[in-house]
This record gives sequence, C-alpha cells and structure tokens, in this order.
Amino acid sequence: MNARDDSGHLLKHASGYHAPVLWNDVIQTLVTDPVGTYVDGTLGGGGHTEALLEALAPEGRVFAIDRDDDALKAAGERLAPEIERGRLVLLKGNFADADQLLADHGASTIHGMLLDLGVSSHQFDAAGRGFSHRFDAPLDMRMDQDQGEDAADLVNRLDVGDLIRLLSRYGEEPKAPRIAHALIDARPITTTGKLTSIVEDAAPRGQEKKTLARVFQALRIAVNDELESLDRILAKAPNLIAPGGRLSIISYHSLEDRRVKRIMRSGHPDGNVRRDVFGNRLSPWREVTRKPVSAGEEEIEVNPRSRSARLRVAERVDDHNQSAGQII
Ligand SMILES: C[S@@+](CC[C@H](N)C(=O)[O-])C[C@H]1O[C@@H](n2cnc3c(N)ncnc32)[C@H](O)[C@@H]1O
Repeated sequence: MNARDDSGHLLKHASGYHAPVLWNDVIQTLVTDPVGTYVDGTLGGGGHTEALLEALAPEGRVFAIDRDDDALKAAGERLAPEIERGRLVLLKGNFADADQLLADHGASTIHGMLLDLGVSSHQFDAAGRGFSHRFDAPLDMRMDQDQGEDAADLVNRLDVGDLIRLLSRYGEEPKAPRIAHALIDARPITTTGKLTSIVEDAAPRGQEKKTLARVFQALRIAVNDELESLDRILAKAPNLIAPGGRLSIISYHSLEDRRVKRIMRSGHPDGNVRRDVFGNRLSPWREVTRKPVSAGEEEIEVNPRSRSARLRVAERVDDHNQSAGQII
C-alpha cells in the first residue's frame, strides 16, 4: 500500500488541532480489557482519546488529562457526545497528579495509561504561545497559562551557570556556554523574535536552525517541568495500573525515551535490574515492546511530526507472580 492509499487510515483521528501518531499501534498494545477504565494523560486534540473510545466497549471509560485550556476546549467540543454519554471525563491538570485527579472522581485503579509526551501541533503552530521561533511572540511557552514562570521570566532570572546547565541538560546544546553568555549580555529578552536573533548570531555558521531548535526545546522543558513530571508519573504508575494493565508512552527525544526505557526494563530510574534471593526479577513491569515502535515511511510522509516518535509499552505484572512473559 502506498502513502496515498493509507493516509486516510493513518490520519483517521487527525484534526486541525493535532494528528495523533502511531494511533493504531497504541490501541493494539494498550487495550487489554475493553470494558476497563483508561487514562489519556496527554489529551491534546483528543485524537488518541477518540481512537481509544472507539476501540473500547460501550461500558469502557476514559479519563483524559491536559494542562492546556486550548486542548480541553478543542477536545471537549469534538468529543462532547462521549462526555454526555458518561464514557469520557476531561480533567485539567498535570498527568503527574493523575492519582489525585482520579481520586477526586472516585477512581483508584485503571487498566491502562497513555502518555504522548511533549507539545501538540496546535501549541507549536499557535503564533501567540511562544513555542516556535517561526513567529515573533511573547516568550511564554507555558502549557498551562494559569501557572508558573514563563520562558521570559526564566531566561531573564537565571545566572550564567544555571543557564549553561539548562541548555546542556535539556537541549544537549554543545555550545551552551557561548549561547548562555550571549543571552545574558542581551537581557532583558521578552519575545521569541529577540531570542531567535541572539541565538542565530551566537550559533556556529550553518548551525543556526539546529541550535535554535535545541535552545527552544531546553527552555520549553524547563518552563513546563517536563522531565520532573515524567519521573513523577513513572514512579506512581505501578500503584495506579492494575496487574495486566499497560503503560504506553510516546517520547520525542532521548531525554524522555531513556527514562521510559530504564523504568520499563528494570522498574528503576537507574535502569539496573534488582533480583530476589532466588534470582527472580523484581520489577512492577514486563516490557511488551523490547524495541520502541516507530512510524513507518507512509506515516512520516503524511505526518512529519511522527518521525521522532518512539512508542514503548509495558505491562503491570502481578507482584506475587512476576514472570518474564512474552515480548513483541
Ligand atoms: C503531543 S500532544 C498530545 C496529542 C494527543 N495525543 C492527540 O491525539 O491529539 C501533548 C499534549 O500533552 C499536554 N501535556 C504535556 N505535558 C503534560 C503534563 N505533564 N500534564 C498534562 N498535560 C501535558 C500538552 O499540553 C499537549 O496538549
């Protein structure tokens, strides 16, 4: 089948807000109980949620979380009939607080959780949100615009050492010291346009675009506490997901994927497997996908954002019956 023939299927749950990546692989690997309760921790435009609701039996339920009011509004309109039917509940908040958000609705254990990390196409393409160097806008970058420090406050507050650490850690930027000094010299910086021209001037010739992408990524990760949120939900997920239920995570860069891989492989953030005195693996997770699932050429062609997506899935094992299980 060529890309044109398959694009209708690949983009079946896409909207003007966002096109969900790998949606079919997500559904095939996430749903183990069609009448179960699931969490989509990253609602966005509601594409994965829509696919999940379609795959579940009428009794199946979804709680969908997002920090962004734009996502809750767009998906709320799109999926209004499912909300009215009581199959879908939308929740505003950080997925790292999923336990509290669910407890407020009387749910304690679930049968599966999806996290499709990072930003939506809408956030990236909305000129006024400050996520992209393609537009001149206030330097905001907050997913939840009701909360916290925006990117301008952050870039104008940090000292040079912290700015270097931020660019190296979250952007893996090789010229972090040079960029950080240029930013400090040019402060105050309140717009994406000014940030862009400083970074372009400081970047090695020919490396401007890549440097911009790394600097914008670093600031976005820091502003939204993205890695801390991921670490927090990875630590809580074993207590939320019932044995036999699954955790599916789509990452878009190595900082995320490394964390997900270590936890799914060993149950520990350091990636080291612990064993009991009999040599049995001690982990709440069994890897379902030994290698991450990535998009095929057809999907990359119709949805270029899927190029960097890596889907990993793990199953919650029964604490009293830990087994190696089958890996796909
Ligand atoms: C890649 S998009 C998800 C797209 C969605 N799967 C779809 O089909 O449209 C990521 C979404 O997750 C949200 N998000 C990212 N981190 C979050 C967090 N820690 N808590 C809640 N929402 C988060 C973003 O606001 C964004 O809307």
